Amino acid sequence: MPEYMDVPEIKLNYGGRAIPAVGLGTWQSKPGEVANAVTVALQNGYRHLDLAWIYGNETEVGQGIKDSGIPRHEIFITSKLWCTKHRHVEAAVRESLERIGTDYLDLYLVHWPVPLNPNGNDPKFPKKEDGSRDLDTEWTINHTWEQMEAVLEKGLVKAIGVSNFSEPVLDELLKTAKVVPAANQVELHPYLPQHELLEYLEKKGIVAEAYSPFGSTNSPLLTDQDIQKIADKHDVSVGTILISYQVNRNVVVLPKSVTEKRIIDNSKVVKLDSEDMETLNSLYKTKGKRFIKPDWGVDLKFEYW
Ligand SMILES: NC(=O)c1ccc[n+]([C@@H]2O[C@H](COP(=O)([O-])OP(=O)(O)OC[C@H]3O[C@@H](n4cnc5c(N)ncnc54)[C@H](OP(=O)(O)O)[C@@H]3O)[C@@H](O)[C@H]2O)c1
Repeated sequence: MPEYMDVPEIKLNYGGRAIPAVGLGTWQSKPGEVANAVTVALQNGYRHLDLAWIYGNETEVGQGIKDSGIPRHEIFITSKLWCTKHRHVEAAVRESLERIGTDYLDLYLVHWPVPLNPNGNDPKFPKKEDGSRDLDTEWTINHTWEQMEAVLEKGLVKAIGVSNFSEPVLDELLKTAKVVPAANQVELHPYLPQHELLEYLEKKGIVAEAYSPFGSTNSPLLTDQDIQKIADKHDVSVGTILISYQVNRNVVVLPKSVTEKRIIDNSKVVKLDSEDMETLNSLYKTKGKRFIKPDWGVDLKFEYW
């Protein structure tokens, strides 16, 4: 029988707040599926949901929260500022709040350090005539962060953070930031453990959050024989090992599923020993891979891009 441990909470760097170490991801969770996924998750112990305006499903997620019967104050809700909205942070938060049907977010993240033209040829992914990304080159992430600090001050969000920020880009932000980001959400799994970035975040008191912990859809991680061996040893699924890997290294993890059995399975965590951790920490040396790498037309200064 597997020996499961309780899902811990990880303290944020201010406000005395803590974030549950496992949260339900909602990217690519379709209308007609996502409300049920959220309800199933909340009724089976999840207290953390990871949303974003760009996922286009915040309204349905809000419905799932209502249907679950779990009180709002027990749930940690994150959403994210999309790239075309860097000049209008307050309006963007208010739109997400309206869609979700709540009056505050627990955490609001700058989704990518890439401001895009808010008045371009598309509200989500504007392009220039030559087909390249329509970047808002007059605007910096430091300007965006000032507005993030303002919505924190107003109480619309309880904490602010970033996503897809490499160490050099964070250094740039920290030159002018009054509030240190509470979290940085990045791609993390055994093929992309980002050890140096995690060390840097720990030094700065920034919580690391792992997105695409399974390597997103149809990933080779789920059939990796080295990971399967660890799963067999603990009598759990490869999925449970991939979730447990992050929790065992003090990282918040955000598995996405719309499948009831998997949602429940993904909330289970086992204690890994030092040999397991050594194997998982080293797989990238031969199998290093990043799965999520949109072509932004700017160098985000990440490895394996
Ligand atoms: N900040 C960012 O830029 C960013 C980028 C990417 C993702 N994220 C966040 O991170 C979350 C997770 O990342 P992700 O959606 O890319 O992918 P993921 O969680 O790594 O993988 C999701 C895929 O794995 C399947 N799956 C789920 N549990 C499984 C299990 N136990 N065994 C086998 N397969 C399983 C899901 O299928 P079913 O749903 O069909 O069960 C889905 O196809 C997102 O939903 C989002 O909230 C953030």
